[in-house]
Amino acid sequence: MAAKQQVECVKEGNYIRVPKGLVNVIVDETKISGVDPKGEATIYRGYTIEDIGEHASFYEATHLILYGRLPCDEELKEIKAKIDKYRGMVPEKIFDALKYVPATHPMYYGIYGVSLLGQYYAPDWRFDEDFLYDHALRVTAQLPVIFAAGWHLARNGTFYRPDPTKDHAWDVLRMIIGREPSEIEARAFESTLVLYMDHGFNASTFTVRVIASTLSDLYSAIAGGIAALKGPLHGGANEKAMEMFLEAQQKAEAKGVPLYEYIEEYIKEKLAKKEKIMGFGHRIYKLHDPRTDVAKKYVEKLKNGDYWMKVIKKAEEVMWNEKKIPANIDLYTGVLYYQLDIPIPMYTPIFAMGRVVGWSAHYIEQVLNNKLIRPTEKYVGPTGLKYVPLEERCKK
Ligand code: CMC
Repeated sequence: MAAKQQVECVKEGNYIRVPKGLVNVIVDETKISGVDPKGEATIYRGYTIEDIGEHASFYEATHLILYGRLPCDEELKEIKAKIDKYRGMVPEKIFDALKYVPATHPMYYGIYGVSLLGQYYAPDWRFDEDFLYDHALRVTAQLPVIFAAGWHLARNGTFYRPDPTKDHAWDVLRMIIGREPSEIEARAFESTLVLYMDHGFNASTFTVRVIASTLSDLYSAIAGGIAALKGPLHGGANEKAMEMFLEAQQKAEAKGVPLYEYIEEYIKEKLAKKEKIMGFGHRIYKLHDPRTDVAKKYVEKLKNGDYWMKVIKKAEEVMWNEKKIPANIDLYTGVLYYQLDIPIPMYTPIFAMGRVVGWSAHYIEQVLNNKLIRPTEKYVGPTGLKYVPLEERCKK
């Protein structure tokens, strides 16, 4: 029988042993985002995540997350001008390098591309605030261009260049789907970037903070964040959720029933096999993920909205009845990006295009009040072994 999992901190000599997965462990303070002290809402710098997700533009939310307040007129003009200008300034040699990437998962293009950006911008890395904020805006503006260019270059040998005269979210979506999005499509996409922008000490943000704590540069830290986000238990879930719906849809078609009628049987079969249903469950939200309320409004308005909402509602009902587990944002964004004609492997890169703002804010918060993050371990392997030369070691 598996050992019972430790759920509380335990004192062991001079050390404190924390639960596996750091469940319920507070590792530091932050003013950027998190669950409010009453444990009732997730907040972005004092505002609820759904308020900002519903109302703020990408520029406003970026200003809020980075600088701690919503911008006034002049500040908004300034941040918009910088992000749009930097979007058009990705060094040409980075596009040249991306011509040689194979058609693999585009999260690799982000890791590769951001480390190339670091090679341009980071050699003389400094820790003064103006410099740090300027680079936060550069990487925010340029990471989406790298993802979109890498995707198209690897598959078609060509790509859509950024247009700095256009709105960031609209232009990024255009570079991904290769056509001009409608107003509602661009706003739906923009709101998901805002909803993804930050989320406390999630796995990728914590990774960024660990790298920042070594006083490495922002670009290296963001590369680590992208790598952590790639996993299916974190950002990768939006792709997996949509793949699951498409697999179920094929099965439903073979049976001649609509997906919203078949999804119950499909989910129950998976649960019976002890499989996880992607797009459900969360370390923090055990009853409801508030981000889904905002994303839902856009799913309803986009292509085949009624159909997809019927599928989602049924899936939610089954998961609640069977497991008492609510949907998370990735279930909704998976469907929303499908409605926008975005290729499925680009869903997690889009998560990164929003989260890069939060990563940058956490990088800055960490380095401006730094302590190297270096926990210790409990070694449970053998001791006292002695090196034996190869000829003697492998004798029968
Ligand atoms: N489907 C089926 N069972 C689930 C699911 C799910 N999606 N999520 C949790 N459970 C069960 C799990 O099997 C376990 O059951 P038991 O106690 O019988 O072993 C119990 O619920 C607790 O799950 P856990 O994985 O130990 O809980 P956690 O807090 O470590 O997990 C999670 C959080 C997000 C890793 C998990 O819910 C999961 O794997 N979900 C699917 C992946 C997913 O959608 N991830 C996106 C998260 S939201 C975006 C982001 O912020 O990254």
